[in-house]
Amino acid sequence: MSGFPLTGPWLLYGANGYTGELVARHALTRGHRPILAGRREAAVGALARELGLEHRVFPLDDPARVEGGLEGMSLVLHCAGPFARTFRPVAEACLHTRTHYLDVTGEVAVFEALAGRDAEARGAGVMLLPGCGFDVVPSDCLALHVKRRLPSARRLALGFEMRGRLSRGTATTALERIHQGGLVRRGGVLTPVPAAWRTRVIDFGRGPRSGVTIPWGDVATAWHSTGIPDIEVYMAMPRSLRLLLRTSRGFGPLLGSRPVQSLLRWRVRSGPPGPTEEERRRGWAFLWAEAEDEAGRRAVSRLKTPEGYTLTALTAVRIAERVLAGECPPGFQTPAKAYGPDFILGVEGVQRTDEE
Ligand SMILES: NC(=O)c1ccc[n+]([C@@H]2O[C@H](COP(=O)([O-])OP(=O)(O)OC[C@H]3O[C@@H](n4cnc5c(N)ncnc54)[C@H](OP(=O)(O)O)[C@@H]3O)[C@@H](O)[C@H]2O)c1
Repeated sequence: MSGFPLTGPWLLYGANGYTGELVARHALTRGHRPILAGRREAAVGALARELGLEHRVFPLDDPARVEGGLEGMSLVLHCAGPFARTFRPVAEACLHTRTHYLDVTGEVAVFEALAGRDAEARGAGVMLLPGCGFDVVPSDCLALHVKRRLPSARRLALGFEMRGRLSRGTATTALERIHQGGLVRRGGVLTPVPAAWRTRVIDFGRGPRSGVTIPWGDVATAWHSTGIPDIEVYMAMPRSLRLLLRTSRGFGPLLGSRPVQSLLRWRVRSGPPGPTEEERRRGWAFLWAEAEDEAGRRAVSRLKTPEGYTLTALTAVRIAERVLAGECPPGFQTPAKAYGPDFILGVEGVQRTDEE
């Protein structure tokens, strides 16, 4: 399964961000000693000294310095987003230096761009595996699980309900595409739809809730994992938020304009970096997947997981461990394609149930 023999330690880029720091701390508890990296000495150095780890500082706008930053590494776990702005220099450097690439993006455009580098990555023996966090590890595993239960499936609906707050980085990333509306997959093709295009009442695991379609990463990845051509992703939302999303449809250009984006970013920056430890401890997520075939047969399964950022740290470190163990099929991968639909069951606090 290995692309090439693994040597040396691994690099965690964006280590000083909210998610990067959670990953670094969790990695330490599992006996790893990642080299921490980022673009600011003050922030990365301080964290590295506190955790007793080595660190490297390099920006992403100089390819030679990025390649230098990866020297001696067998893999990089990239946690600096929005990834639409940051994935390319890191992925390029990985392909040149034959370093395996992992990230925690949930951005459809990033998944698709990396999928487009599949042949190149295979040629280099490098694994490109984006989406190692809450988006998309549990939903990707659940998608492949329902496909396994109903191999004739032609339609896939995924959804989740969660308790927890967004980090500043996630909110900033979401803002960048807020004016672009929704996305679903139809006949294997990514298809733009209006924001909150469809509403469905779904039992995600805690009784019926209203969910609306959102442009979640799985509209990209579940196609690569399952080959099911029609895919929609739903998120449970209170009525007020559903209405707000629908109202936003008429304001796309305004929401995407520079002054409104600056104002929204300023609002996000003035908030806390992410959920507190206590909020993460009290948080949870329920995920649901429904596969359906042309004859109307259905397979429905659910997952219960820890809170999203906690889960991200757990799954990203587990995946890094699989890579270090030599399990790194070359080319573009999704979590479930690389490690199977049951990978998520090995993560603490995760339970799966199948509807009869
Ligand atoms: N898929 C998932 O389930 C999942 C889960 C968690 C997070 N995420 C994503 O991960 C990203 C980070 O989230 P977060 O909450 O950790 O955000 P954050 O606290 O704002 O941290 C962002 C990190 O990225 C770095 N960074 C940003 N732009 C950069 C650039 N152009 N060059 C180099 N470094 C750059 C920042 O460095 P400075 O401190 O120097 O600015 C910081 O280290 C977001 O895109 C978020 O959506 C996804």
